[in-house]
Amino acid sequence: MLTDGPALLANNLTKAFSGALVLDALDLRLEQGENVVVIGPSGTGKSVLIKCLVRLMLPDAGDVLLFDKELYGLNAKDLNKLRRQIGFLFQSAALYDSMSVRENVGFPLRHSIYVKKEQSRRVDRILDRVGLTAAADKMPAQLSGGMRKRVGLARTLILEPKLIFYDEPTTGLDPITALEISRLIKSIQEEYGASSLIITHDKVCTRITADRVLVLKNGRFVANGTCDELAAVKDEWISAFFAL
Ligand SMILES: Nc1ncnc2c1ncn2[C@@H]1O[C@H](COP(=O)(O)OP(=O)(O)OP(=O)(O)O)[C@@H](O)[C@H]1O
Ligand SMILES: [Mg+2]
Repeated sequence: MLTDGPALLANNLTKAFSGALVLDALDLRLEQGENVVVIGPSGTGKSVLIKCLVRLMLPDAGDVLLFDKELYGLNAKDLNKLRRQIGFLFQSAALYDSMSVRENVGFPLRHSIYVKKEQSRRVDRILDRVGLTAAADKMPAQLSGGMRKRVGLARTLILEPKLIFYDEPTTGLDPITALEISRLIKSIQEEYGASSLIITHDKVCTRITADRVLVLKNGRFVANGTCDELAAVKDEWISAFFAL
């Protein structure tokens, strides 16, 4: 898994729906340990991009290397192996409705090498980090939207992935929880050198988590830089995003 190369390298990613081009020959590089935030208007293809990068959707053209592995060339077994080292949090945190919070969060550990006691220790630790200890035995139907999101996040992080894809991790959360989740994303990077690709509409989350920001518009990345660099770009949409 560990290589010297980038965590992610995408070339020429292209995707159209019914003739409408959503991703227009995108190139993307994510270094190991780097957090990159992708912003852009609604409906511009951010979720499609992330789905292509984890092979939940196939692009019409292009290729993706994850830790030097050719994503679209992997057989099912190797793809599963790679996916265990990669985390993704979807826009709608899909939980298993018949499982408690604790069971949902521990689910990815079921085939791990950890004995039951170590599994539950890990679940307890991550539940504590996302502030859900008191809700551990609740069922998803009993949770608020923000709590569901945090369960999804805990489940994403439980295997300590080296590369994490977040699709709007703070949407629908109150400002304090959104801030805590953003800080958690940042601390995950700092603690174990994970790389993340974060899609968000949240300025605060962008400021806290981003080493670099990419702006997706009309299928292309139209800007690339730090928050401060982008705040100085003369573009109506970009300056509106970074304005206070
Ligand atoms: N499975 C699909 N079939 C057809 N069209 C799709 C499909 N998935 C996405 N699209 C279209 O691709 C475009 C980009 O969608 P996408 O969900 O990636 O937007 P987004 O940038 O994530 O928007 P938002 O910020 O609102 O989440 C939209 O026009 C959408 O209708
Ligand atoms: Mg989206």
